Parts: sequence; structure tokens; C-alpha cells
Amino acid sequence: MARSLACWLGGCLLVSALGMVPPPENVRMNSVNFKNILRWESPVFHKGNLTFTAQFQSYRQFQNICKSTASTECDFSSISKYGDHTLRVRAEFADEHSEWVNISFCPVDDTIIGPPEMQVEALADSLHMRFLAPRIEKEPETWTMRNIYNSWAYNVQYWKNGTDKKFRITLQYDFGVLRNLEPWTTYCVQVQGFLPDRNKAGEWSEPVCERTTEDETTPSWVVAVVLIASVFLAFLVLLGCFALLWYIYKKTKHTFCPGNSLPQHLKEFLGNPHHSTLLWFSFPLSEENEVFDKLSIISEDCESRKRNPGDSCSFGTPSGQDPQSS
Ligand SMILES: *[C@@H]1O[C@H](CO)[C@@H](O)[C@H](O)[C@H]1NC(C)=O
Ligand SMILES: *[C@@H]1O[C@H](CO)[C@@H](O)[C@H](O)[C@H]1NC(C)=O
Ligand SMILES: *[C@@H]1O[C@H](CO)[C@@H](O)[C@H](O)[C@H]1NC(C)=O
Repeated sequence: MARSLACWLGGCLLVSALGMVPPPENVRMNSVNFKNILRWESPVFHKGNLTFTAQFQSYRQFQNICKSTASTECDFSSISKYGDHTLRVRAEFADEHSEWVNISFCPVDDTIIGPPEMQVEALADSLHMRFLAPRIEKEPETWTMRNIYNSWAYNVQYWKNGTDKKFRITLQYDFGVLRNLEPWTTYCVQVQGFLPDRNKAGEWSEPVCERTTEDETTPSWVVAVVLIASVFLAFLVLLGCFALLWYIYKKTKHTFCPGNSLPQHLKEFLGNPHHSTLLWFSFPLSEENEVFDKLSIISEDCESRKRNPGDSCSFGTPSGQDPQSS
């Protein structure tokens, strides 16, 4: 009994003395966001440099993850996230080797939730925050810690820079707003992932500090008044355009219909009997009335006046030729 106790206590010394290889020391799993790194320390061994082999158990069989490595760590990130795994590592020298050192590891339970990424923007007297859950090692970029757990939330803590009093809130979504903060004050914010159903919290992010400004948002009644005013103004402009168009339409009609208001240069042009192009006007008019009717399509009003012999609304009049006589 005493011998076995001595064996346990002085195990390392004993095996060293017997020329056996001592096992790795301080074996522990360091897992953050499923990046699973098994670490150990090399035992004191005088004969030479030790190498190490690390394995994990899969379906009762052990598989090498790191074989005869001189390193004192081994990356187990490729193993399944679910279930309980047995991992083991031993030291080796030449043909000899130490005992296995076993540890059990359950990634989903044991992995540490790393700090989320956070963006903070100060808008007036509030801080707008966006979070990004930690990415998972060896998974596509869009795959975050949030996708692994049924429940996921963010714990946010914030404080006025330079003070110790911290306020805490828990948020369900990837964004959040801290409202009604003091204006012109620097606030610092930290966030951690949190699993409500396991009551497990992750690591805090580095604090991000932002300075608030004055709440300069316009009251809603001002917005309403401006809106109504602009609608009214738009209506007025529309009305003005319509009136202008109507005026132009009227003016145009009066320019071409009353015979006496023909433009001066046109009157002079038509009044010259020797002008050769006069034929262009007089010829078709004197031949058939249909051509004349086509021209008068400009306005019904114009046509009715033209039919009336007493009215001077006719194109031929200034040249002294009455179209009715043809
Ligand atoms: C042991 O490792 C060290 C560096 O870690 C190296 O300098 C040395 O040559 C190695 N010794 C043997 C016997 O391989
Ligand atoms: C580690 O586990 C193996 C079986 O998988 C066992 O034989 C060995 O004694 C264990 N080592 C320790 C130090 O518990
Ligand atoms: C926070 O306050 C400390 C002094 O209390 C100051 O040195 C530091 O610059 C401040 N940080 C920010 C981001 O304003």
C-alpha cells in the first residue's frame, strides 16, 4: 500500500530513475469558439528531446491527430462539436514512450465563447450598436457561434467614461440602441455572448467609447408643418404651370386667328404683290377649297369666322385676295 502511494507521489521521479519516459505535464484543452488546442508541457528528461503523440477516441478507436511532434500543442479543431470526446497524449523517446495522459472534452459545453465584434455609432443622445457573433474555426464565414446554440443573446454593459457605475442590458438581436443618454458625454460599451438556457457567458469584448451629442431631432409637429407646406407649394407650382400653359394656349390661338393680329413681318411679306412665293399661298387657295379647309383646322373658332364674309379672319386678306371669291 505504502509502496503504491510512493509510486503515485513520486511517479515521475521513479519512472525517470527507471529509465522510462515521463508523461507530458499540465495537459489542458484551450478551446475558444471551437478552436480546440490541446496544450501540455514537456517533462524534464535528460536523455534527449521528447516527441509527443496526441489522439482522440472515435468509435472506440484512437486516431492520431498529432504524430511524434516536437511541439507542445495539438489542434483538435477538426473533431465533432457534439458529444464527449476522450483525448490523450503521451511523450516518446526513441522506442520508449510514457503512459497516456487522458482528458475528456465536450466541445459544445467546454468551448469558451469569444468576444463578439461590435460597432458603435453615436447619434444625438443615443448609441447605436451592431454585433457580430464570434466566427467558428474551420467553418464558412457566415457560420457563427449563434448558429450552434438554441439560445443566444448579448450582454451589454456600458458606463460613462471615467466612472465605475456600469449598466447592464441583455439583447436578443444583432443590434441595439442605448437611448436617452447624457449629451456631450463619452460612454464606453462592452459586449459578451450569453447563452440564457445554460446561463453561460462568453468573454467581454474590448470597450468601445463614443461621445454623444445634443438631441437635435426636429419635433414631429415641425416635420408635419414642413410636409404640409411643401405639398401646398407643389400644388401651387402645379397650378402656376397649368395657368401658364393655359395662357400660352390662349395667346397662341389669338396670334393665329384674328386676321389683324398677324405678325408685322408676315403682313409685309404677304402684302408685297410681286413676291414670288405669294403664289404658294394664292395658288392652292384659288384652285380648291379643301386645301384652305386643311389650313383652318388650327381652330374651329377660326373657321367659323372665316366663313363669315364680314370677318377678316383669313390668310388671303392681307394680300388683297379674298379666298371666298375663288
Ligand atoms: C533538441 O532540440 C533543440 C531545440 O529545441 C535542438 O537545438 C537540439 O539540437 C535538439 N537535440 C537533439 C538531440 O535533437
Ligand atoms: C488513460 O486511458 C487509458 C484507456 O483509454 C488507460 O489505460 C490509462 O490508464 C489512462 N491513463 C490515466 C493516466 O488515467
Ligand atoms: C476616458 O477617460 C479617461 C480619463 O478618465 C481619458 O484618459 C480617456 O482618454 C477617455 N477615453 C475616451 C475614449 O474619451
